[in-house]
Amino acid sequence: MKELISSDRIETRVAELAARISEDFAAKIETDGRPLVLLGVLKGSFMFLADLARRISVPVEIEFASMSSYGNRRESSGTVELRIAPSINLAGRRILVVEDIVDTGRSLSKLLEHLRSFEAEEIRLCAFLDKPAARVVAVHVDYTGFEVPLKFVVGYGLDAAQQYRALAGIYELEEPAGT
Ligand code: IMP
Ligand code: MG
Repeated sequence: MKELISSDRIETRVAELAARISEDFAAKIETDGRPLVLLGVLKGSFMFLADLARRISVPVEIEFASMSSYGNRRESSGTVELRIAPSINLAGRRILVVEDIVDTGRSLSKLLEHLRSFEAEEIRLCAFLDKPAARVVAVHVDYTGFEVPLKFVVGYGLDAAQQYRALAGIYELEEPAGT
């Protein structure tokens, strides 16, 4: 496996993103006292969400949604299964969706469409990685950690058939011989 992004670069970038997010929401949160809702998309965002949440300086609440499109294969299946049963009432709230990677854009656009029914005040998107060359459905990402090429990547929460999520950096997974 080839390292694409080291854990040191990740740490620096997450701090930058957290500073921008804190700055963008600080005034609004000070005005009405309602924390920002970080909505992590499982499982891939767990590590990014944990690091980001600790760096954001405004008050946050944590919620999760679960999406799967890949199954255990590396090609996007095109159909996305979404599960969300928020224990926080999202009506009138400011939500930051936290994703591991935007690939075709199908998962996020489906999640956003569904989130509209909760009547939040504001929804923004934060993706740790963006693979723009793979985009099929347009989505506007407000905060992006890094852009990656059209390669399958793992680590820092991202998996290949449930493996490699615990790696501290981002690695390009080379295709095994014969596939
Ligand atoms: P999309 O719906 O095609 O944008 O796919 C988004 C989801 O597929 C991401 O949230 C990831 O969970 C997964 N995914 C897409 N590309 C990769 C990759 O390179 N490595 C690991 N997971 C990926
Ligand atoms: Mg994901």
